[in-house]
Amino acid sequence: MKKASMISIGAYVPKEILTNSDLEKMVDTNDEWIAQRTGIKTRHIAKNESTSDLGYQASKIAIKRAGLKNEDIDCIICATISPDHLCMPSTACKISNLLGIKNITAFDISAACTGFIYLLELAKSLIESGVKKNILIIGTEKLSSIVNWKDRTTCILFGDGAGAAVISARDDNSILDVHTASDGEYADLLTTPGCGSIHPATHEMVDQNLQFIHMKGNEVFKVAVNTLTKDVIDILEKNEISPKEIDLFIPHQANLRIINSVKQKLKLTDEQCIVTVQKYGNTSSASIPMAINDAYESGRLKKGDLMLLDAFGGGFTWGSALLKFGGI
Ligand code: COA
Repeated sequence: MKKASMISIGAYVPKEILTNSDLEKMVDTNDEWIAQRTGIKTRHIAKNESTSDLGYQASKIAIKRAGLKNEDIDCIICATISPDHLCMPSTACKISNLLGIKNITAFDISAACTGFIYLLELAKSLIESGVKKNILIIGTEKLSSIVNWKDRTTCILFGDGAGAAVISARDDNSILDVHTASDGEYADLLTTPGCGSIHPATHEMVDQNLQFIHMKGNEVFKVAVNTLTKDVIDILEKNEISPKEIDLFIPHQANLRIINSVKQKLKLTDEQCIVTVQKYGNTSSASIPMAINDAYESGRLKKGDLMLLDAFGGGFTWGSALLKFGGI
């Protein structure tokens, strides 16, 4: 039986950079607080580009690096919490149109910052069951469009960007295991309360800023650290892989303190760990493929390397993955 393999990676960030000192002019904050509490120094902000535009740019790179033509792709799945449109069409359909691909399966999923891990599980299932051959998975976000730029507790955290990968049927360098999970009990700790069926679009809803991201940061932090640590230990034990055997640990890039906490628990070295949060901030579903792309472009990720991924986000959702890189 053929296995699902990540045969390429690509990413894209919009040009404009927003620094911590820029934010000092917008809200009551300072570079030292942001850097110490989060590790973030800069983030990229999209002005005239939409979420699908960002995803399209990342997708073009991923398809080219896979050595495929656009028409070889038979499924596009996009993870995003900042879609071009709230209900329809899906951002995947918009990207499909930009790529000039017609008549294939294209849809979005909503799993917040864990989106890319969920995409890996879906793509693995669809490839290994023989239903699809070459799946384009995309994490793309224009979080600047759902951030309240007057709320210092959230606006310092997020950025815009996209990452994409092609998952294809191969004999080796496969996605070894993916674990995904959720707990809706924590829904209110990290949420965009407005614009849905509970608070439809009204002037009153907008006056209350319910269309923006609301987060109880320190409560999310505690659950994230404990859940992620357990999740990565579990997936390594289940697959009888020791942390030393991991070539690259590529976690969701939300907060340097969360990344370091998991890294220390697993006794991973700096060489094993990819950190991009200082450059991009938290780009939700895009953060892991953007970080994989950084590792690839800097020469740290090579064919056959064993990656450990982990992510945690709104829902709550979380997950981890073990995979060998199948790209060249
Ligand atoms: N600048 C300066 N001070 C700020 C600030 C800012 N941007 N934002 C909050 N503060 C203040 C608070 O008002 C509070 O002040 P007080 O002590 O006078 O009440 C103080 O800093 C501490 O706030 P707290 O929220 O407890 O800080 P924290 O150490 O928990 O850090 C986060 C805040 C958001 C960085 C952190 O909680 C976090 O990263 N949470 C998880 C995010 C995450 O992983 N999300 C899930 C995946 S998307």
